[in-house]
Amino acid sequence: MKLPNMLDAAKRNKDKVEYIYENRDYNKIYDNKKYFIRTYGCQMNVHDSEEISGILDNLGYTKTEEFKESDLIILNTCAIRENVHDKVFGFLGRCKHLKKQNPDLLIALCGCMAQEEVVVQEIKEKYPYIDLVFGTHNINELPNMLEESFGHQKINVYSTEGNVIEFDNVYKRDSNITAWVNIMYGCDKFCTYCIVPYTRGKQRSRKPEDILKEVKDLVSRGYKEITLLGQNVNAYGKDLEDKTSFSTLLKEVSNTGIDRIRFVTSHPWDFTDEMIDVIAKHDNIMPYIHLPVQSGSNKILKLMNRNYSKEDYLTLFNKINKIKNVSITTDIIVGFPGETEEDFLETLKLAETCKFAGAFTFVFSPRNGTPASKMKDETLKSEKDDRLQRLNKVINKYSKESNLKMLRTIQKVLITGISEKDDSKVCGYTENMKLVNVIAPKSTIGKIIEVEITGAKSFSLDGKIKE
Ligand code: SAH
Ligand code: SF4
Ligand code: F3S
Repeated sequence: MKLPNMLDAAKRNKDKVEYIYENRDYNKIYDNKKYFIRTYGCQMNVHDSEEISGILDNLGYTKTEEFKESDLIILNTCAIRENVHDKVFGFLGRCKHLKKQNPDLLIALCGCMAQEEVVVQEIKEKYPYIDLVFGTHNINELPNMLEESFGHQKINVYSTEGNVIEFDNVYKRDSNITAWVNIMYGCDKFCTYCIVPYTRGKQRSRKPEDILKEVKDLVSRGYKEITLLGQNVNAYGKDLEDKTSFSTLLKEVSNTGIDRIRFVTSHPWDFTDEMIDVIAKHDNIMPYIHLPVQSGSNKILKLMNRNYSKEDYLTLFNKINKIKNVSITTDIIVGFPGETEEDFLETLKLAETCKFAGAFTFVFSPRNGTPASKMKDETLKSEKDDRLQRLNKVINKYSKESNLKMLRTIQKVLITGISEKDDSKVCGYTENMKLVNVIAPKSTIGKIIEVEITGAKSFSLDGKIKE
């Protein structure tokens, strides 16, 4: 049994990261068995679930969308805020009785919550029916862990990150049009509110040649769009021996000829002029930047350890905003410890100034083991909720405004599937990441088409294929 430990997870060793190239032989030992996987959290987790699904497929499992009829239930969890914790344990409660009907049923919990000391303690004490707990650093060990978890609870979580493991084609990708491509793991920024540097370990960049090989393979299989993933992609390469920068990587990825390139997330800290230049010059790098600001108050930004001021952010914002057709979105936290009404008003003012195309807004959630969870916090919950509502009003106003600006324009849209709102329509994203429901034949799925924008709502656009 290996348990997570927050103190170990906070350490940053100087050990050289090894790159391990694995060729796997799988035995289809679980033929006839079904698995169900539910994913919470960010794209990183979504992509990890594609890896887990790929491994399970290779072991003979088939995927089911119905957890009640599965032989293996996997919850890939997120630790970023408390609300996922409650959802996960609520769902686990609904799974318990299924073991009576199917005594061979395995229940597994993985992802960022598995890296949390307090969560694993809770599982040990109160949830004996969870068979397997594994973390973010050892997904590759899944075949053995499954075998070993029958009959007793197995907890196998490493608090120190491992090496970078490259293995070919293990992903069972959710789409054959768009794909996630990890470019780095972990995070060394240690924003004081955030648990990610503890749950994902130190920053480890993949080698450019391995990333390019994956992208070229996706191009040859007909993929139209890739999203490069990292907790702060602009810090890419700082840990590599040759220090390849993110802008160099972007250029090389652009040269593969893939139709569309996106990337998340950009930290304002490492965003260079060279990056802006590269984005502006390459048509297949999409003009959409997610640039989390977190707060408009310099006092709060300092307490958050974000390492930039409101003025720095605005300067960067204005430079990026000059890229043709760009749209910029952000993340904002309200109710951080010590945030006064005046601090909050500065955030509101910044939102008014930037007129973001969209934003994810959150109330601060204290995470066990992070510095901010120990800071004095005197603001009432009702006050924090009120700030969130006031902020959302401003954010929604400008989100709608940025959509209205696109009315009657012609946009290139990559059609990804049937519209969720109206199944007689298809849907997809513009270059600047606006969701459009389009009147067009189903045969356009997988293609980039020209669309005339005919309607603008707060969170989506309507359009019809250009005649
Ligand atoms: N690496 C990304 C963020 C990943 S987490 C970045 O640095 O931009 C996504 C968002 O969750 C963060 O941008 C932040 O706004 C929010 N978040 C993180 N920790 C939080 C916490 N403890 N409480 C509330 N929101 C949080
Ligand atoms: Fe968390 Fe900050 Fe790292 Fe983003 S950059 S993952 S907010 S510590
Ligand atoms: Fe959540 Fe882990 Fe992503 S905490 S946001 S799943 S990195």
